[in-house]
Amino acid sequence: MTTAYDAVTARIADPVVDVILVGDSVGNVCLGFDDTLPVSMAMMNHHLEAVARTRPRAMLVADMPFLSFHLSPDDTIRNAGGFLQRGADAVKLEGGGKRVEMIRALVNCEIPVMGHLGLTPQSVNAMGGFKVQGRNADDALRLLDDAHQLQQAGCFALVLEGIPAELAARATESLTIPTIGIGAGPSCSGQVLVFHDVLGLAGSHYPKFVRVYVEGRQLLQEGLSRWAADVRSGAFPAPQESYRIPDGLRESLVNWTPSKSS
Ligand code: KIV
Repeated sequence: MTTAYDAVTARIADPVVDVILVGDSVGNVCLGFDDTLPVSMAMMNHHLEAVARTRPRAMLVADMPFLSFHLSPDDTIRNAGGFLQRGADAVKLEGGGKRVEMIRALVNCEIPVMGHLGLTPQSVNAMGGFKVQGRNADDALRLLDDAHQLQQAGCFALVLEGIPAELAARATESLTIPTIGIGAGPSCSGQVLVFHDVLGLAGSHYPKFVRVYVEGRQLLQEGLSRWAADVRSGAFPAPQESYRIPDGLRESLVNWTPSKSS
């Protein structure tokens, strides 16, 4: 699974992955926010619609942003249902046992739900920062318990983020639904990374769990620099990159003089 936030990234990702996630990470990756908390339903709908217009063959999952699934089951169903009406196949939401009521409400409306446990970015303030979770016995056992509550509530898959590899392995072997890891070691059923991280587009510093496969930012900047140099030297555009006027018009252009009013 990887993320896509617009038609360009969706068209690149779709032939390669099984699942495309329109993540609320759009907030920090594309919109310049420090974290995902300011991301709204309106923003998510805008980005989901762009991805959905490409009609991806991959499963399309839309991320429920902060406060879109916390207030009431009605509100949660309306928000998640709106995602499906815009082309999503399923929704993802963060949190453990506290979210079971909302997950059941969605599943009862035939809305497939992917859970998300561990270092859940929308809980950054409650967690005291972006910190690896499940590192003591109480937290680790609570996470396993949460994972089973989410499975019981009807989630079809779980993202496990920022937890020790051994804990993710234990969760994965004990569940019947697939787990998708990000910073959760190699034993999950699948893996997810943010598109801009895998392709080196996000900046100069990446978390430990990211492997950058292409220095995309550098590569794109090199291309753009060559174009800018050609513009400055006059090498761009060449005749084959320009339009020509019909022969009969040449004389009119040459004979034209500005009128007094212009
Ligand atoms: O928003 C997101 O991109 C995510 C993934 C990193 C799992 O939730």
